[in-house]
Amino acid sequence: MGFRFSQDYIKRFVQRKDLKLAVYGLGRVGLPLAVAWLRAGYEVIGADVDEDKVEIIHRGLSPIGDEPGIEESIKRCVSEGRFKATTNLIDASEKSEVKFITVPTTQRARRFDDYALKAALEAIGKGLKEGDAVAIECSVPPTTTVRFAQPILEEESGLKAEKEFALAFSPERIFEGRALEDIEIRYPKIVGGVGPYSTELFAELYQRIARKGVIKMRSATEAEISKLFEGVYRDVNIALANELAKLCKAMNIDFAEISEASNSQPFCHLHKPGVGVGGACIPYYPYFLLDKAEECGVQLPIVRLARNANEEMPKYTVETSKKALEAIGKNLKDVKVSILGLAFRAEVSDSRNSPTYNIIYALKEYQPEIIVHDPFIKEDELLHELRVKLVDCLETACENASLLIIATGHGVYKKIDLEELVKTLNLPAAIVDGCNVIDSNRVPKGIYLTSLWGKTINKL
Ligand SMILES: NC(=O)c1ccc[n+]([C@@H]2O[C@H](COP(=O)([O-])OP(=O)(O)OC[C@H]3O[C@@H](n4cnc5c(N)ncnc54)[C@H](O)[C@@H]3O)[C@@H](O)[C@H]2O)c1
Repeated sequence: MGFRFSQDYIKRFVQRKDLKLAVYGLGRVGLPLAVAWLRAGYEVIGADVDEDKVEIIHRGLSPIGDEPGIEESIKRCVSEGRFKATTNLIDASEKSEVKFITVPTTQRARRFDDYALKAALEAIGKGLKEGDAVAIECSVPPTTTVRFAQPILEEESGLKAEKEFALAFSPERIFEGRALEDIEIRYPKIVGGVGPYSTELFAELYQRIARKGVIKMRSATEAEISKLFEGVYRDVNIALANELAKLCKAMNIDFAEISEASNSQPFCHLHKPGVGVGGACIPYYPYFLLDKAEECGVQLPIVRLARNANEEMPKYTVETSKKALEAIGKNLKDVKVSILGLAFRAEVSDSRNSPTYNIIYALKEYQPEIIVHDPFIKEDELLHELRVKLVDCLETACENASLLIIATGHGVYKKIDLEELVKTLNLPAAIVDGCNVIDSNRVPKGIYLTSLWGKTINKL
């Protein structure tokens, strides 16, 4: 063991007053992470390929508007000179000792797309110095840190991981809309290094921002998989909730009331049904695991089935809509459809992989007039390409519509005044509630309400 392996060395490294950190990827994960380090007193360089984002940060503003606590910290720390943003990725590596990678990890043709991660690693590797430390926080398929990241960093820098620089994986566990709170207060940080020095160094470091402490894993691969398990657990349970809700629907009983009763027993954690699963994480993780399982010659039928079932939900939503319209004597191809909600989750402005897009694709077969409403999203490139109008005025969205599909459980939809709303609709009208936001006891005349959570109320 070299001197760096001693706890004493690690403590001194972490306590260095001149220690500079760099965060690669100033997005939903990277910005809150950068702010957590700034709030812990460190100097941070934010590195991103997006010039507009860097420019916004230079002005002391936040490119993500719906994360509490972010903008005020950016403003303060930019003016104090402790937070700088740059598009010069190599320079950021040369000028920092610790680097965190939070770039997007998506899929192309259902396979892991390593493009952004590779670019970040190459730049970091070019600026890497002896004694530096690199942590990958973006979600990746198992073994990415040791088999993909380590060789790139070693090749680019000429240095050896664990001996001359630290390398670890530490999954980001945030829930959008409360990211900073999640990092600082809610959950322990999970860390797995490519060796004991890397694990210990990052465990010591992360303790400075994670009040719940650090869970040390035996390896980077185990840390990677822990994140995928979290996501796949949710995917499978959402699929189960969707399936049970279909039964409730057939029996005209309420999934919400039943699951609340069932969940009063501590071993039961029924999730929420919905129109599908979106976001930058959960839709990808089952495939990361399925690919690895295939490589290992293992089948994961439950994971696969759950993913397929969740991917079918937008189509099921459209089939339900079609039947609802038939029940009121209307046809999908002749009506205006208003989809309420583009964000993949309530109260956020993120539309990545939103089931709303898939609802639109399924609706297009019938060629109705489609309009989308979202209070948090002002513009959307994909909707623009699909020639679907996006509005933030609920009245405009609902005006003359015969079908409302509630796709996101935003608070504003829970507060909809149905008595007022019916005045704008083309009656009789159908409401397909995918988020259980409409109070079935207060359905006005002229409305056929059918909930993906079970109940159908016919007030024609
Ligand atoms: N959003 C979440 O809730 C969440 C939660 C847990 C984990 N994750 C994971 O975190 C990672 C990042 O997700 P996100 O939601 O923050 O993505 P994001 O798209 O919001 O942000 C990524 C940022 O990285 C930048 N970028 C792209 N290529 C780059 C490069 N080569 N170098 C530097 N910057 C680059 C982009 O311009 C963007 O600003 C993903 O792996 C995701 O799966 C996300």
